[in-house]
Amino acid sequence: MENFYQPTINDELEILESITGKTKEFLLTHKEFKIKNERTNKFRELIKRLKNGEPLAYLIGYKYFYSSKFLVNKSVLIPRPESEILVDLALKEIIKRKDNMLNILEVCTGSGCITVSILKELEENKFREKVKITATDISKRALKIALKNSNDLLKNTWIDTQGFNQKENYQFNNLTDSNSHDSLLLRHANVFPETNNERFDLIIGNPPYIETTEVDHLKESVKKYEPRLALDGGKNGMDIYLKIFKRLKNNCKKQTVFILEINHTTSGLLHSITNKYFPEKEAIIQKDLYGKKRYLTIR
Ligand SMILES: C[S@@+](CC[C@H](N)C(=O)[O-])C[C@H]1O[C@@H](n2cnc3c(N)ncnc32)[C@H](O)[C@@H]1O
Repeated sequence: MENFYQPTINDELEILESITGKTKEFLLTHKEFKIKNERTNKFRELIKRLKNGEPLAYLIGYKYFYSSKFLVNKSVLIPRPESEILVDLALKEIIKRKDNMLNILEVCTGSGCITVSILKELEENKFREKVKITATDISKRALKIALKNSNDLLKNTWIDTQGFNQKENYQFNNLTDSNSHDSLLLRHANVFPETNNERFDLIIGNPPYIETTEVDHLKESVKKYEPRLALDGGKNGMDIYLKIFKRLKNNCKKQTVFILEINHTTSGLLHSITNKYFPEKEAIIQKDLYGKKRYLTIR
């Protein structure tokens, strides 16, 4: 098979780290460390798959995001560094409004990387009163990964699940009083949780936003291995944004803020759609570190 990719030293070290359980630093400083035969075979196999275009994160089973190690598999999009800025923007908004109970919705949570990073940061810095985040995804498999990540990374957050987990209403770390902690509600849902007409203070998310016709033109390692469900945003890449805007046009609080990741190629169209749905709000588009229009805030 044609090789797509030339692995770097860092890729090789990441693979060795996952196979041996030794850190990269250890491996670099202990040249005498012997790797067993079967592990050498595993290493060769993974390097071959990497060369053939399989993403490193799926091969080793994790990806670092916002300084934490997130489990990933082929049911979830591999978290992208650009989405870390979405976490920063959301945290800024939460801290600004920290004196109030905040009811937050994350749509399209995937591995849970955005919500879990926000809650972890809040747990560590204690600059919050109480935050409740409802995180939805249409993929049950993705939600199972989000639940694993929540369990692994959150220490002081009440976690409740519905629609995908056999052991529903899961509680974490023997917390018994859900009122005194931040809480996370993982929900199997088509964008919005079905059960209520809850009003949210903050809506965040990184929805699938690639135009359907563009998905087949993405690079091989993305289109072949990452879930189409996480990429395909419909005809103009607008499906999920439109769903959010239609539902919330006449049904959100005056102070509700939206912070959404967007596709830089369709940012102009999205901006005008936003103005049509929310003429009374201000829509601001911000760029990512590569100078691409990537984040839409509506307030
Ligand atoms: C671009 S990925 C984002 C994942 C994660 N939030 C991140 O930033 O890495 C989009 C996610 O949306 C989910 N999704 C697609 N259509 C959906 C829908 N109608 N309702 C809820 N989730 C949906 C996919 O399963 C996928 O996990």
